Amino acid sequence: MGRTIVTTSHKPDNESVEIARQAAEILQAELVERDRLPFTRLREKYNAENVLVAARGQITIHTPSGECFFHPSMSVPRVKAIRQGRTDHMVEAMALKTGDYMLDCTLGLGADSVVAAFVVGESGKVVGVEAAAELAYLVKCGLAGYREGPKFLREVMPRIEVVHDNCEQYLLAQPENSFDIVYFDPMFRYSRRKSSSMEPLRGLVKPDPLNSRLIKEAFRVAKRRVVMKENSFSKEFAELGFTRVIGGRYSPVAFGVIDKQEAAR
Ligand SMILES: C[S@@+](CC[C@H](N)C(=O)[O-])C[C@H]1O[C@@H](n2cnc3c(N)ncnc32)[C@H](O)[C@@H]1O
Repeated sequence: MGRTIVTTSHKPDNESVEIARQAAEILQAELVERDRLPFTRLREKYNAENVLVAARGQITIHTPSGECFFHPSMSVPRVKAIRQGRTDHMVEAMALKTGDYMLDCTLGLGADSVVAAFVVGESGKVVGVEAAAELAYLVKCGLAGYREGPKFLREVMPRIEVVHDNCEQYLLAQPENSFDIVYFDPMFRYSRRKSSSMEPLRGLVKPDPLNSRLIKEAFRVAKRRVVMKENSFSKEFAELGFTRVIGGRYSPVAFGVIDKQEAAR
């Protein structure tokens, strides 16, 4: 995870200047003058890898592999499909329902959390944990301030609680059975999926695969299920104890399930 600096567009409005100031303070990153410089020059001048830019009231992160801003991406068609009564493999794997508490240990850009927050509704809760501070901040601001798209999504997004932390630390601090579902969508398989919206963030995010210590903690915190998204034919499912795999026949990804009731039998 390289160094990040914060700046504005070439001719920023007052709102963007204030957003940049707040971002720099929260991320404890250096706030620098844009000085009409292109990103390559800014990186060289400040010995930084990532540039967080506030412009027109929005935040964008520029990394050496591309540019990233908050957008609900696939959560829009997925929620529309759920509203039409169609199956979503993640929701099915979680057996997620109204009122559930779901802990997303790998928030990323938050698309899976948005889908989950729609399903659990106002009586439920979704907490998304993200290890990369810049990304957690981008998504927190994005979820709180999203003004486009359908109302049913705009209502759901601000209900997601974003936490900047390593999920292992976060899980260790949670009581037993405190979330119905604990969910993981780790990063490493994306090296084979260049089209992913996470790709520009590759240098910024935490790339580590999951390990059995994490799964053990997740099992303690989950009341019903631990679920992991992975490549359909990944060996990780078996290696980490995911006995059931849902989806994947026609899709490159699948969802592994550890069900606590089944495990207790
Ligand atoms: C593939 S992305 C998740 C995408 C997400 N499901 C979505 O819908 O946008 C994986 C994310 O998990 C984060 N991550 C990986 N290991 C983590 C950990 N131990 N704790 C918290 N976040 C982690 C990475 O920084 C990355 O942003």
